[in-house]
Amino acid sequence: QHDKLALPVGTTLDRFIMRKQEDFPYATGELSQLLRDIALAAKIVNREINRSGLIDIAGAYGNRNVQGEDQQKLDVIANIRFIRALRNGGEVCTIISEEDEEVIQTGNVQGKYIVAIDPLDGSSNIDVNVSIGTIFSIYRRVSPTGTEGTMADCLQTGTNQVAAGYVIYGSSTMMVYTTGNGVNGFTYEPSLGEFFLSHPQIVTPQSGAVYSVNEGSSNSFSSGMAAFVTYCKEANYSARYIGSLVADFHRNLLKGGIYIYPPTSKSPNGKLRLMYECNPLAFIVEQAGGKSSNGRTRTMELRPEDMHARCPLFIGSKELVEKAEEFLAQEE
Ligand code: AHG
Ligand code: MN
Ligand code: MN
Ligand code: MN
Repeated sequence: QHDKLALPVGTTLDRFIMRKQEDFPYATGELSQLLRDIALAAKIVNREINRSGLIDIAGAYGNRNVQGEDQQKLDVIANIRFIRALRNGGEVCTIISEEDEEVIQTGNVQGKYIVAIDPLDGSSNIDVNVSIGTIFSIYRRVSPTGTEGTMADCLQTGTNQVAAGYVIYGSSTMMVYTTGNGVNGFTYEPSLGEFFLSHPQIVTPQSGAVYSVNEGSSNSFSSGMAAFVTYCKEANYSARYIGSLVADFHRNLLKGGIYIYPPTSKSPNGKLRLMYECNPLAFIVEQAGGKSSNGRTRTMELRPEDMHARCPLFIGSKELVEKAEEFLAQEE
């Protein structure tokens, strides 16, 4: 069957989505359309980011979001662009966004999908030209169509995700996503306005020699966490911490390594949010052969208490995550 052929590198994202749609029996094309809507918004946000130094959209927006963070103008712009693309695409009934306290009802009551999104990840890096990203997670609604999405639709466990992905606006812009059949990476060619398949069937190394954690918080690390960091140093691993989760995650996905956002005194449950940072990346890393937990429990099995719930994140190469979990398990 042709869909068993590995699609050649250079296939466009559009063609890839259409060809892969046949992997799903009874696929009606709605998820395919939704992925295209996300790619469109990514192209628009990519252009805003590349021009942010030239037009007055750098700097703070002068608002605080529900996270208590000073919103950057690009946080707000990216949020508007993705919400608009998802609303106009028609497939999404309800959106959870890092930048909005309440759920966003798109008005598409026939839409079958829910999207949880971090429209711009790594906001502290926006004005200093360091890689930033977008992270998204897609669920099928559990309530009947014809009505607005409910909290039950929105607070599903990560194991219910039908798709998840991220965009990294870096030295090149890439979109990496999974629909549960492996992970594929696409590189954007701005002169053509197309994403091209550049990293087919990504498999993450089972181990690695990179650890990513903000050691500025090490005074509040638990004994197990401190012991694991010491283990990494004694093993002469490299410390790499960009301050943009998507960038640290993407490097570790391709080269091996572990990213940790542990409980700290400032963030006793970790800083990262379960619905639109931890779960989507956990889906991707598991599809690529890696692992993700909160140090004890598989990330995708954590029950979300609320839309902006935070959880510790240990994610990356399977052997490194398991090693970290061993150190945590030995804590008195
Ligand atoms: P966001 O910009 O979406 O709020 O996420 C920022 C996150 C993540 O991208 C990054 O790894 C982490 O915050 C950095 O936090 P610290 O500065 O506390 O290390
Ligand atoms: Mn983020
Ligand atoms: Mn963000
Ligand atoms: Mn933020």
